[in-house]
Amino acid sequence: MRVLVIGSGARENAIADALLHGGTELYAYMSTKNPGIYKYCRGYTTGNLEDAKGIGDFATANKVELAVVGPEAPLAAGVADELIRIGVKCFGPTKELAKLETSKAFLRSLLEKYRINASPKFRVFRNYDEKGMLDLLEELGEYVIKPDGLTGGKGVKLSGEHLAGKEDALAYCEEVLQGHGCVIIEEKLYGEEFSLQTIADGMTAIDCPAVQDHKRAYENDEGPNTGGMGSYSDSNHSLPFLQKEDLEEAHEITVRVMRALKKETGSFIGIMYGGFMATKKGVKLLEYNARFGDPEAMNVLPLLKGKLADVCAAAANEELGSARVEFEKKATVCKYVVPEGYPDRPVISKIEIEKLPNALTYHAAVEEREDGLYTTKSRAVAFVGVADTIEEAEKIAEDAANGVKGSVYHRKDIGTKELVQKRVEHMRRIMNG
Ligand code: AMP
Ligand code: GLY
Repeated sequence: MRVLVIGSGARENAIADALLHGGTELYAYMSTKNPGIYKYCRGYTTGNLEDAKGIGDFATANKVELAVVGPEAPLAAGVADELIRIGVKCFGPTKELAKLETSKAFLRSLLEKYRINASPKFRVFRNYDEKGMLDLLEELGEYVIKPDGLTGGKGVKLSGEHLAGKEDALAYCEEVLQGHGCVIIEEKLYGEEFSLQTIADGMTAIDCPAVQDHKRAYENDEGPNTGGMGSYSDSNHSLPFLQKEDLEEAHEITVRVMRALKKETGSFIGIMYGGFMATKKGVKLLEYNARFGDPEAMNVLPLLKGKLADVCAAAANEELGSARVEFEKKATVCKYVVPEGYPDRPVISKIEIEKLPNALTYHAAVEEREDGLYTTKSRAVAFVGVADTIEEAEKIAEDAANGVKGSVYHRKDIGTKELVQKRVEHMRRIMNG
């Protein structure tokens, strides 16, 4: 099959790798030339990921049969709509269905309409209503303020952490309204977060192993928020702090949302990635993404048995129910090596990667120059260890991350016994508290 991957990060590198393992003829449309991708393609180009027509033209010129969309920006720009229009199957939802990710107000209202009891208390404001907002902030005590729209994970502000008091909160609501025209105030939840990426076609929903990401830049979950510094998954496809029922609840929420979407709009084809939180009051939904997670894709794709292209094509044909989708019973740990100063003041430097035989290597924001590889402003390269236990997988990823020379750093604590145990204890305190 001739398959096009759209995007140029480490997530897309992992998608490309999985496609290649299945014997796919690979093509890539990237925003920057990713050396982990372009070297293995029959054809590639670089361009604007939101240029639906340009992507469609590239697909036509290369007689592509199936496209796999990596990031959210092309989905929001209607790339899937254009590909479907010109007869290319697409793994990734249409613009209207991508609202699942692009509009948190749409998502919260959908859950409400279909009585899916997974939201924290919330209210959507489309105008500045000081009295209504103050009353809600008062009622909630601790709250979260979110813009309605794509913000690269940086728009969500929490009371106590980013917002000192109600005045701050109101000022932020006003700012968000000016920028996005819509702001959501919701109850602040307490618990442990997990990512459940579910392959969907409108009728069938198949979960990938659950993953936990680490958003903070520094060890012990300190420092600014990032795109994600690394992640882990366990050999039983659950996580050490979760109960079996938690995953069942999360799966059920996704199935009900998929059915609601089908009724409202149509079949969601692609990944429904739920950002869930296990709380004392059960599993709650923080958000959905309409794509694989970055880094979470790197935890699950190396475990996929069979061919990714077949799974994506089955979903695109709305025949996922007859596809066999299985994941190896292994644990994984992913660690991102990022530029010194990332995310606020990233330092650009030349890097050398020592490839270790055990670790999987995925390139992200790096630039190939004549004299070698350089970091750019974002996460540079990710390493994944796959083993029987999280501990063993951690060692593999850690050794590989230590092998990078340059002005870079990574979180040494991700996947360690100590940090995983801290999560388990935190969850225990939450349940007993
Ligand atoms: P979101 O983009 O909605 O996933 O929010 C980004 C991050 O903000 C999440 O990963 C959580 O860490 C945090 N967050 C979002 N909503 C809530 C909430 N209602 N309670 C507590 N934390 C939240
Ligand atoms: N892991 C966060 C994201 O992909 O949005």
